[in-house]
Amino acid sequence: TLGGKARDAGYRLAGFDTIGSTNSEALAAAAAGDPGGIWFTALQQTAGRGRRGREWHSPHGNLAASLLIVPDGSPDTIATLGFVAGVALNAGLSAILPGGMVRIGIDGADGADGRSRIALKWPNDVLADGAKLAGILLETTKAADGRQAVIVGIGVNVVAAPQGVPYPATSLRTLGVERSAEDVFEALSDAWVDAFSLWNDGQGVGAVLARWRGAAAGIGAPVAISQDGVTRRGIFETIDSSGRLIIRDDDGARHPITAGDVHFGAT
Ligand code: BTN
Repeated sequence: TLGGKARDAGYRLAGFDTIGSTNSEALAAAAAGDPGGIWFTALQQTAGRGRRGREWHSPHGNLAASLLIVPDGSPDTIATLGFVAGVALNAGLSAILPGGMVRIGIDGADGADGRSRIALKWPNDVLADGAKLAGILLETTKAADGRQAVIVGIGVNVVAAPQGVPYPATSLRTLGVERSAEDVFEALSDAWVDAFSLWNDGQGVGAVLARWRGAAAGIGAPVAISQDGVTRRGIFETIDSSGRLIIRDDDGARHPITAGDVHFGAT
């Protein structure tokens, strides 16, 4: 079910047990003329999609959620909605994690006190103890009225982490947190309302990016970013005002990165 705030804000929900992909369902709804403001959720996907054409494992009990919205704003601004989702996930997960778990990690790694660190990994992942807990896939299409429709797809590993993926992965269950996908969605849908209203009023993007930076993993540390077979190494300096990752190389030159796979700790 939707959180109370999301319901009050007028969001709708189409909930499924099993579906191909909630993002595909949202894309189809946009094509069919839905005006937006609707979440599609599933406990299991049979054809879940990840970023960069990858497959997303969606076993039963994990959360798959896709929001269809038709926002105002330029394409560049709209591209920053993934950060809204990151901020919402951080807040939503924090709301349901037991008090002993620290929500904002400086480095995304397990702390000396043994408590989990939840952190955001550029561009669109959520880490717990340095392993991937959730991912975000933003897609755009044309709404029936010709405006840009956006699908914000969010996958959270609730009861199972994917096996055989080329990165460390975790789940809430692995972290010792027994909450249902429904609980996670309720908290997430409410947190989205707050994060989106930040984005949607005037100073929006800057305010959202400031929050995002505050929960980011790896700022100030060595990083390697690879895209299309090219790897750039340096210090992860910051996220700029349009959401690009700024890397500083050995010569002190700064390079803005718009896409790629990030590896921390690489020198
Ligand atoms: C990634 O990290 O590669 C992004 C993963 C996004 C997965 C979610 S699950 C709900 C929505 N439906 C999909 O098919 N994908 C997204």
